[in-house]
Amino acid sequence: MKKSIADLARIRQEALKNIQLRDQNEASCRIVVGMGTCGISAGARPCLTAIVDEVHKRGLTNVQIVQTGCVGMCRLEPMFDVYLGNEKVTYVDMTPEKSRQVVVEHVVNKRVIHEYTIGAVENK
Ligand code: FES
Repeated sequence: MKKSIADLARIRQEALKNIQLRDQNEASCRIVVGMGTCGISAGARPCLTAIVDEVHKRGLTNVQIVQTGCVGMCRLEPMFDVYLGNEKVTYVDMTPEKSRQVVVEHVVNKRVIHEYTIGAVENK
């Protein structure tokens, strides 16, 4: 479908509004999901899908989700880091359900789920 100049101007205005909203949001968040071979074979893809879905469902505009390669800790996959404010928290041995919980508790409610973190799992 062809777009008119007016359509394009409207789309541009909406995009600018979204960017301004994003800038006004408090601390933005970045989630970095390990998508190396072992991560994928351990189930990282469904975790990534669950994170993207939960972020989208909640209309969170200040969350950036990115993939990374090998993290060097196969036995703890699937894993991802959450960067929020000045803090980085590493979640390990994740499932899609646990990934959704992290979005709700950590990203939205600003409460780290300590039992899923690398510190808790490594100290068992
Ligand atoms: S192959 Fe497993 S962490 Fe790199």
